[in-house]
Amino acid sequence: MGKVTIRDIDVFEKKVLLRADFNVPMKDGVITDDNRIKEELPTINYLLEKGASLIICSHLGRPEGEFNSKYSLKPVAVRLSELLNKPVIMSSDVIGKDATKLSKNLKPGEILMLENVRFHSEEEENDPKFAEKLAKLADVYVNDAFGTAHRKHASTYGVAKLLPNAMGFLIEKELKNITENIENPKHPFVAVLGGSKVSDKIGIVNSFINSGCDSIVIGGAMAYTFLKAMGYKVGKSKVEKEYLKEVKTMLTNAEENGVNIILPMDHVVCDNIENPTIIENTDGVNIPENLIGVDIGKKTAKTFYKIIKKAKLVLWNGPMGIFETPEFSCGTKKVAKALAKCKGVTIVGGGDSAAAVINMGYSKKVTHVSTGGGASLKLFEGKVLPAIDIIQNKN
Ligand code: 3PG
Repeated sequence: MGKVTIRDIDVFEKKVLLRADFNVPMKDGVITDDNRIKEELPTINYLLEKGASLIICSHLGRPEGEFNSKYSLKPVAVRLSELLNKPVIMSSDVIGKDATKLSKNLKPGEILMLENVRFHSEEEENDPKFAEKLAKLADVYVNDAFGTAHRKHASTYGVAKLLPNAMGFLIEKELKNITENIENPKHPFVAVLGGSKVSDKIGIVNSFINSGCDSIVIGGAMAYTFLKAMGYKVGKSKVEKEYLKEVKTMLTNAEENGVNIILPMDHVVCDNIENPTIIENTDGVNIPENLIGVDIGKKTAKTFYKIIKKAKLVLWNGPMGIFETPEFSCGTKKVAKALAKCKGVTIVGGGDSAAAVINMGYSKKVTHVSTGGGASLKLFEGKVLPAIDIIQNKN
């Protein structure tokens, strides 16, 4: 049984509370990547065409329940207005006087953006009274915030219990691309994992080991914890010592299940990440005592490239090195290129890996670039996302 989508509901002359994920990267008040806003346009345009008035609600960053102008959604409202070529009214609060008055006066075809919902601590606490106040602003609730669907918050979960609800086109697209391909994986099925922390990826590695994945390719700083657990020298590279035991168990389980864990066989290393005086490629897997691993090496990048290119299903989450520094970005770029060249199904799970694919102009060459970081990881793991689960089922 599927979930109700915006195609199934009547929004004519209704006030729709749309939960979007406009948690976009910003630098000095300027949006540096507007992909999440662009991905929301089909849902917004559809609802407006069907005669709704829109009250858009989102979080931005982690303001920890307090007003902080650094996390204001004003720049997002401006960008959305530019993209839609129509006015977006901005309220100075979320559930206060301004939001109530502006939403009451909203006409079909008009858009109101509420301030950052995380300026209230009740949001992350999933406070029922806060959810009630949000629900009072509208007649219908639409959730299209895929990136936040793993959070059980008032605006993603609590409010869905109080209003007729549906999911938007973005969540529908993410589910179709991710869930359908994972449920019936084509082989070879290759998972590519990177990023700095093993602790963030334990669930996903274990799930890949147990779910018919053929190879797990590991780069990024998380690889050094694996290499250390296997007895290699990792110099001054980042290692999560408290996870060494767990990693050893994972390696044993992978072997027993016939899953190949493929780790770097050489590395790009430096003496200092901020001001390097030495940057070199190691000869082999061991890293000299005084140096830090910052990217996969050339030989590793070539090996990863070949494995990925030949796969029938690739899931990628996490960069291969400190890719925001150009000297340490070659591994991540090579992986992005491998996905672009792969003829199989290629899915990129949010965050830095998505940014690498988009910035390199490969977004049309991969099957799906997810807008979710944590949310896509949970879906890769086969977990139920609470904000999607709470949406009503179709009859
Ligand atoms: C994200 O960027 O992954 C989502 O917007 C969720 O943000 P959060 O991790 O702060 O809940």
